Amino acid sequence: MINQFTKSVKTILVFIAVLCLCVSTYAKEDIKRERPSKLFSPSKIPLLEDTGRDAWQKPEETLNALNIKKGQTVADIGAGSGYLTVKLSERVGATGTIYAADIQQEMLDYISKRLVEKGIKNVSLVLGTMDDPNLPPNSLDLAILLSTYHEIAQPVDFVKKIKLALKPQGKLAILEFSDESPIGPPIQVRLPEDLVINELKQAGFTLSQRHTFILPYQYFLVFSPLN
Ligand SMILES: C[S@@+](CC[C@H](N)C(=O)[O-])C[C@H]1O[C@@H](n2cnc3c(N)ncnc32)[C@H](O)[C@@H]1O
Repeated sequence: MINQFTKSVKTILVFIAVLCLCVSTYAKEDIKRERPSKLFSPSKIPLLEDTGRDAWQKPEETLNALNIKKGQTVADIGAGSGYLTVKLSERVGATGTIYAADIQQEMLDYISKRLVEKGIKNVSLVLGTMDDPNLPPNSLDLAILLSTYHEIAQPVDFVKKIKLALKPQGKLAILEFSDESPIGPPIQVRLPEDLVINELKQAGFTLSQRHTFILPYQYFLVFSPLN
């Protein structure tokens, strides 16, 4: 009798789980994605610099996962206010180089003031274009696109240019807000993780790591170039 009851409860629970999965898959397919999203306005820099950001962005854990070493060369592409640039600069130390790249001069001006205030000397500012990050070939140990990929108009071509800038053993990290995150850009401009992975494959990369336990609101993918 008890066995029969347990069996029925289990069946009902499995049915509910399958139903929820179907509803959420259907709801996701129903979202009309807008791409690329508008450029993040420099007037919203305070959002990037919000004091509560570290609690969910977890920059130190993120950079630990990327295993950045002193003396390395790293590009922060779509650097914005330089939130990550400054932390990267400390990681690579005086013998390393950070390229802080953005396509909005106002963002680079903001970073420039910040670097002067903090006496940081190992960061080079790079003004790119929507189609080209303008980074030196074969120079990077790592490139990071933090909450930037969804703003890029022709991502496959853009990422192919990043590939040229990477050293053969270099890596590319992409972090974007998941559909499930309670914070972040509107759902229409978020990108499903699988779509990003597919585009990176088209650009000649392979997924080498997927960090699922570090960030609560973003997916965190690391790619290696295929030679
Ligand atoms: C949402 S902000 C994120 C800034 C920063 N990564 C952060 O998380 O604090 C996106 C930034 O990417 C820049 N961006 C958009 N498209 C770009 C491109 N093709 N090349 C370089 N930067 C780009 C925008 O100008 C903006 O500063």
